Parts: sequence; structure tokens; C-alpha cells
Amino acid sequence: MAGDSDSKFIWMDGKLIPFDQAQVHVLSHSLHYGSAAFEGIRAYQTKDGRTAIFRAVEHMHRFERSTRIFGGSLPYSSEELILAMRELIKANGFSSCYLRPLSYIGNETRGLKLPREPKMRVALATWQWGKYLGTDAINNGIKVCVASFRRPDVASALPWAKLSGNYLNSIMARREASLNGYDEAILLDHQGFVSEGSGENIFIVQGGQLLTPSAGGVLLGITRDCVFAFAKKLGLTVKEQSMTRNQLYEADEVFFTGTAAEITPITNIDGHRIGTGKPGATTLTLAKLFDDSTTGVAKDFAHWLTYV
Ligand SMILES: Cc1ncc(COP(=O)(O)O)c(C=O)c1O
Repeated sequence: MAGDSDSKFIWMDGKLIPFDQAQVHVLSHSLHYGSAAFEGIRAYQTKDGRTAIFRAVEHMHRFERSTRIFGGSLPYSSEELILAMRELIKANGFSSCYLRPLSYIGNETRGLKLPREPKMRVALATWQWGKYLGTDAINNGIKVCVASFRRPDVASALPWAKLSGNYLNSIMARREASLNGYDEAILLDHQGFVSEGSGENIFIVQGGQLLTPSAGGVLLGITRDCVFAFAKKLGLTVKEQSMTRNQLYEADEVFFTGTAAEITPITNIDGHRIGTGKPGATTLTLAKLFDDSTTGVAKDFAHWLTYV
């Protein structure tokens, strides 16, 4: 089983089909070369019992841009895909779930030379996925390392796009962390500055300010954007700037953000205790506001919810 709980149906190229029949040809271009784009989205059960997709529009916008960057174009509009995700959640009877849109190239193209406008296929999958970095992460924080794998250089890796091929590097960093007993990895960039986690953006809290690596070399995370909005509401300053390993070790608080990871406190990096060694007050305030936004409690952010 792929996730905590798989689904009954997957949406493929316009149709809901049974989970076991959602298959592709072994010669699919994307399987060989990573020529695919994907998204990770969560839908939450809100306080009134209804289910809502969190920031569906922003995720679909990034999905469209990621696909376009290697010449593809989605054969469906964002509105059609959001409607399809709503139908998919209903058909599976989930009240909260993870959603995985994927655009990929089938077996009609061989070799590296893509047609000018490659035919894109689209799948929308869903499964029930618990806390990505462990159920206890919010109480105790997680233990991470700075990986020896670096984030690929911005000159070639297209950091704003969620391209499948980019993720082998993340997989290697995460694997290195796990093999060495850590929960997750932080990747430095080619100049040695902090970039992000294998599947998360990173923030530090220092002297009451939030700092995060500049937008140029990291995925423009949608949860990262939520933290910018929360900071504004709470009157906190956020600075986007280059960040060193030194700053990580000396930070009062460090946390990851991501759709899968949500807001996860980091309490130990490379064996160094961060702050008090417990999740910090600012991280917990932001995590609570995130929870309140996903469940419709925070009225200021109600526009981020698309009800199923
Ligand atoms: C490399 C990377 N950075 C950051 C993020 C966080 O982005 P988001 O908050 O949009 O999920 C992700 C996950 O999508 C990721 O894969």
C-alpha cells in the first residue's frame, strides 16, 4: 500500500477509474527520464464537518507553470482540475486526504528529444496520509542533519517547478538522513548557503524575527506563503535572505513548512540543540494559526478553502 490508506478511485485523463486499473505503459517517457510535474495538496475536515481543499487555486497555478516549463501544457483548465479533485474526494468518501496531481508523458515519445508540444496526460490521485514527519513532531520537534547532497544549482535545476526529475536528489538527501538516524535533511545550495529540506521550506526565528532563504533558489512553497501571511497578521517581520549553517545552529527556533509536513518544529540539527530543545513559542503560534486556517476557524484565511 502506497500511503496510510489508499483510495478506491483515481482520476486519469478525465475519468474516475478503480485504483487497481490506474496503470501506465512501462515505456512511458516520464518513467525513464523524470519528465513529469506534480503537486502535493491537502484537503482537511473543517470545523463544521465539511471537507475543503487547502489553497487549491495556488497549487493548480504552480502545477500549470511546472508543466509548462518543459514545453507541456495541461489539457484541462485549473477550474476543471479543481472540480475533478472535488469529485475524486467525494467518490472516495474521504473527509481529509492528500491529493497528488501528476502530468506526465506516455509511451508515444522515445529518447530525450521531446516534440515541441508533448502530449501531456494527467492523473489525480488521493490517499489518507497522516503526519509526514511523525505524530510526535509538533510536541517534541524533529532531529535533522545538513545533508552532503546539495540542492542542484539554480542555473539548471529550475527550483520553482515541481518536476519529478528534480526529486532524485531530494530522495538521496532524505535517504542519507534516515540512514544516519535523522528524521529529515536540510540541503545547502552550491555556494554553501541553506536552501530547504528534501520536501520542505525552512525558517528560523532569531531575536523575534523570521528569516527564510530567498526565493531565487528554493521551491516557492505555498505553506511558506502562508507563513508570510500569518507573520503579517501577527505583526512579525519576515526577511528573505541568504542563511548560513552558523545561523541554523544559533537560531532561537527553526521550523519546516510544506503541504505534507505542514509546520514542523526542528529541535536538533546535526546533534546541536536548537533554542531550548523544545518547539518554540513562535513556531507553535504559527502552527496553530495554520491549523485554524485549514479547518476554517481563522476567518481571515477562509478564502484559502475550496469546499468539496
Ligand atoms: C523541495 C520542496 N520545497 C518546499 C516544499 C514545500 O512546498 P509547499 O508548501 O507548497 O508544499 C516542497 C513540497 O511541495 C518541496 O518538495
